Amino acid sequence: MARDFALTPKQIQSKYLYDALGSSLFESICRLPWYRIARAESRLLTRWADEMVGPVEDPVTLLELGCGSGEKVALLAEALRSRRRHVAIHLIDISPTALELSERTLGALEHVSVVGHRATYEEGLRRAARERPPLGGLLVLFLGSNIGNFDPPASHEFLCEIRRAQRPGDALLLGADLVKPVKELLLAYNDPLGITAAFNKNLLVRMNRELGANFDLSSFEHSAIWNPDERRVEMHLISMREQTVRIPRADVSVRFGKGESIWTESSYKYEPRGIVELVSAAGFRSHAQWMDPDAGFALTLFLAG
Ligand SMILES: C[S@@+](CC[C@H](N)C(=O)[O-])C[C@H]1O[C@@H](n2cnc3c(N)ncnc32)[C@H](O)[C@@H]1O
Repeated sequence: MARDFALTPKQIQSKYLYDALGSSLFESICRLPWYRIARAESRLLTRWADEMVGPVEDPVTLLELGCGSGEKVALLAEALRSRRRHVAIHLIDISPTALELSERTLGALEHVSVVGHRATYEEGLRRAARERPPLGGLLVLFLGSNIGNFDPPASHEFLCEIRRAQRPGDALLLGADLVKPVKELLLAYNDPLGITAAFNKNLLVRMNRELGANFDLSSFEHSAIWNPDERRVEMHLISMREQTVRIPRADVSVRFGKGESIWTESSYKYEPRGIVELVSAAGFRSHAQWMDPDAGFALTLFLAG
């Protein structure tokens, strides 16, 4: 924490956005008319689920990194029902609220067993890979364009980590948001109802509650900008005045100048071909790609080579 506040610009890692309120606000964002990618991805999963699970050997283990509500993995588990085989599902999420929600969503399915891991992606992946059965294929799901929160070197490193956790013939289904007109991109991260602003500012609420900090919410504003050189939307919290904030449980005092920002999230955007290149460089082979051209979203299935 002290280290991230010492950077220029100051930073908070985006994984901290997801406490109980943050997870609920994210579910609301997914229902906003301006955040179209969640519905686009669910439509693609519904339409092509059989093809997506097709190449994975029975008995299938599904592993979702950052499962959120679990509604998307449920669509694939439904498609596997017709094979009349048991499906093991590992859910990995840093947020206990997301895990509870997704365990409830999947609890309605009789042919599945669910193991939840409250962990970071990296730790959860290692744990779930150790626990998978010796037979059958593993399909790793990394959906919702979560990959976009990693910068290019970190996404390469993490994709290599996924590949190392897999055996030849296993698969990775990656959902990624595509580059689109800037106005459309910014509307998705700066919605007129202010839900994304609340999601972002909740980081300050969380630090006040959990770390005893004294952030004054009215003196920070949400901002979302498009960085064309890096092809990413950045979320920031901008200090509207000069101020010093005390964070006792992290043992730091942080000085803010007027207009100074805390960078809270990056969401990289991709070209369809770029997705294939990024993941192939980590040792996967592209198998198929499905796209929603209206919302600008792609799901790509890769096989571990
Ligand atoms: C943008 S939401 C997407 C949820 C879901 N995959 C979807 O597509 O709707 C990201 C999810 O990943 C979890 N998450 C974010 N960063 C994480 C990390 N570093 N390790 C584990 N979970 C993380 C969050 O708690 C949240 O549930």
